[in-house]
Amino acid sequence: MAKQLNLKDVVLIGRTFDEYYRMFDLGNISLKNETVLDVASGVSSFCAEANAKGYDVTASDRIYKSSASDIGQKCARDLDTVIKQLPDIADLYVWDYFKDIPSLKAQREMAYKLFVRDFKKYGQERYVPVEYPVTDFGEDQFTISLVSHFLFLYEDRLDYEFHKRTILELLRITSKEIRIFPIVNLKGKRSSLVESLMCDEDFEQSTMSIRNVGYEFMKNGNEMLVIKNKETGTPSPNRSS
Ligand SMILES: C[S@@+](CC[C@H](N)C(=O)[O-])C[C@H]1O[C@@H](n2cnc3c(N)ncnc32)[C@H](O)[C@@H]1O
Repeated sequence: MAKQLNLKDVVLIGRTFDEYYRMFDLGNISLKNETVLDVASGVSSFCAEANAKGYDVTASDRIYKSSASDIGQKCARDLDTVIKQLPDIADLYVWDYFKDIPSLKAQREMAYKLFVRDFKKYGQERYVPVEYPVTDFGEDQFTISLVSHFLFLYEDRLDYEFHKRTILELLRITSKEIRIFPIVNLKGKRSSLVESLMCDEDFEQSTMSIRNVGYEFMKNGNEMLVIKNKETGTPSPNRSS
């Protein structure tokens, strides 16, 4: 059997603003002019750090129904599960951005602590409980949506229909573009769902393209999928008229 992280569920682990910046190639976006949604943002510190820099970012995750202490306990358990497995599968990763496992662990703990502080301060004003694929956000409420380590990566438990419904919902609530990173599964292979989505006629009103980015931690995980409505203002297929 191919080596991979062995996980019971989607894990609650968070990345930093700097990782998001690289994963999503945010240098080519004028972030100060955007209203950004972080999709399945978990305990990432992206939202906290971005707002502290003056950007407009909202985080969304099913975990935000829970208290900070429950989130903290689950996050600590999940981080422990991942860190324990890493020595045996270290060759599936590029040790460049992170020099070694202790420095990776330190970054993840830093992200989580920044998140908890911000979550306690701003609560659901900034951290919106959402169970994808459904949201209560309005049409075009955001200009950019970012999806990190949620879709494609967990293709063994989130099926095609889930991916399709989530992306259609993101097209409804996002006016400019949706960026999804990575597009590999937990084995480090490009998810077969990417091609199926790109060929799906329900996405005729959208364009999808794959772009290389300057961040690779999982080997081969250095590409993002960019999805846009064909013309700004053109209703996506599931928009209400
Ligand atoms: C691996 S974490 C990624 C966190 C963050 N995006 C990052 O890259 O640092 C995956 C997140 O997906 C969330 N999640 C899983 N299924 C979800 C669903 N149906 N709706 C909303 N969030 C979900 C989990 O709670 C978890 O926080």
